[in-house]
Amino acid sequence: MSNVENAIKYFHENQKTMTGTFFDLVAIPSISTSPDHNSDMVRSAEFLADYFRKLEFDHIEVFETDKHPIVFAEKRTDRPGAKTVLVYGHYDVQPVDPLDEWQSDPFKPEFRGDYVYARGASDMKGQVMASILALESALKVGELPLNVKFLLEGEEEIGSPSLEGFIKSHKDLLSCDMILNPDAGMVGKDQPTLVYGLRGMTYFEVRVDGPKADLHSGLWGGNVANPANVLAQIIAKLHNPDGSVAIPGFYDKIPPLSAEDKQKIAGNKLTEESILEITGSPAVSGEAGYSPVERQGARPTLDVNGLYSGFVGEGAKTIIPAYAKAKISCRLVPNQDPMEIYDLAKEFIHSIAPDTVKTQIFLHSAGPAYLADDAPGVENLVKAMTAVWNAPVTYKREGGSIPVATVMQRELGVISMLTGFGLPDDAIHSPNERQHFPTWLKGVETLIRFYLSFEGE
Ligand code: BES
Ligand code: MN
Repeated sequence: MSNVENAIKYFHENQKTMTGTFFDLVAIPSISTSPDHNSDMVRSAEFLADYFRKLEFDHIEVFETDKHPIVFAEKRTDRPGAKTVLVYGHYDVQPVDPLDEWQSDPFKPEFRGDYVYARGASDMKGQVMASILALESALKVGELPLNVKFLLEGEEEIGSPSLEGFIKSHKDLLSCDMILNPDAGMVGKDQPTLVYGLRGMTYFEVRVDGPKADLHSGLWGGNVANPANVLAQIIAKLHNPDGSVAIPGFYDKIPPLSAEDKQKIAGNKLTEESILEITGSPAVSGEAGYSPVERQGARPTLDVNGLYSGFVGEGAKTIIPAYAKAKISCRLVPNQDPMEIYDLAKEFIHSIAPDTVKTQIFLHSAGPAYLADDAPGVENLVKAMTAVWNAPVTYKREGGSIPVATVMQRELGVISMLTGFGLPDDAIHSPNERQHFPTWLKGVETLIRFYLSFEGE
């Protein structure tokens, strides 16, 4: 039997225990945005570091940051001239609310049908563990054909505030020939996918203040502006009736989609039917003049992510709220400058905000879009995927954002292979997040084949 077959056999023979490790990682509630979970962040980082110790990695280090630890681990090979792959991952997850919509405890991974249900099962502890377990299996069959480094952060879901500084100050530690980033996903379970574009993001918050405290709406309503009413008016002006964003200059720098790009993304067969089925929305809605696939990955958006004002409990309370807040994100495409978009948004919102209230705007994060052709190592990855799925690879411009890809390209000079084994209906960031288990198994097999594919090189 070949090394590849042996490694895959090893994985299948130990699948129960190895899947158990995946479940153990998922069971740690590592919600990066919530300070209540700081100790869980440390626990996750230690869990991973311990696992690398068990696998006898050559260099394991947990780095403190201003927020959550970064785990670095390296397994070197004795093979002369061997290449180095850097695997990026994040062990943090999104919050779980609304909790009562979950059918099982988000941090007690559970099999139902073909799926593992848990927060982080798909985004992306499942992908992190697939990368590690595949390497573990490859290690069992002999000397590795390449050096492998892992860089695992705990702040991706909050915009990776510590990572850029870390990468800049640890370039030697992170030097590599290839980067594997399995934080992207597949377009369908039978279509292994390579992502070659990501949207960027400018995220900000608008706060409208009116009276110094909530007021009796009968006593004062009619004589002072209501911040909730005003904020709703502002938000309503951010889009045109055709679904485009109304901020002047928002689209100015975006070149039209090239014929080549159009053809490349057409492999992603996102239909209106599947949008309705997966999202449960009563109708499809978006920028006029563009197809669903173009809207998903090649056109920018503006969305309210959260809206807060006044009395939101059960029942009724008659007040003029003292303030209203909206969290707003713009998904950006190449050539849009995230800070310029922030300035344009800020200017526009201030220009339409009435002086009956005080309007303030704060920046949360800003990162550019990403578009890159063939990453080093991609032939090996494509071969591995094709062998496992027996299907051609689909190329996708992703609607989500993975800011680290841009940073790594700039700081380490390496373009990332963006892939992953999550599916569009995994409900990432939503209640009842899940990972399709048969696809995860294929993912592990793909990565075994990928690591071992450097044997002949
Ligand atoms: N894994 C996602 C990004 C993603 C989503 C890739 C769907 C492919 C398909 C990642 O963890 C994520 O959610 N990123 C954030 C980034 C943000 C916090 C800067 C996002 O896109 O909202
Ligand atoms: Mn993710």
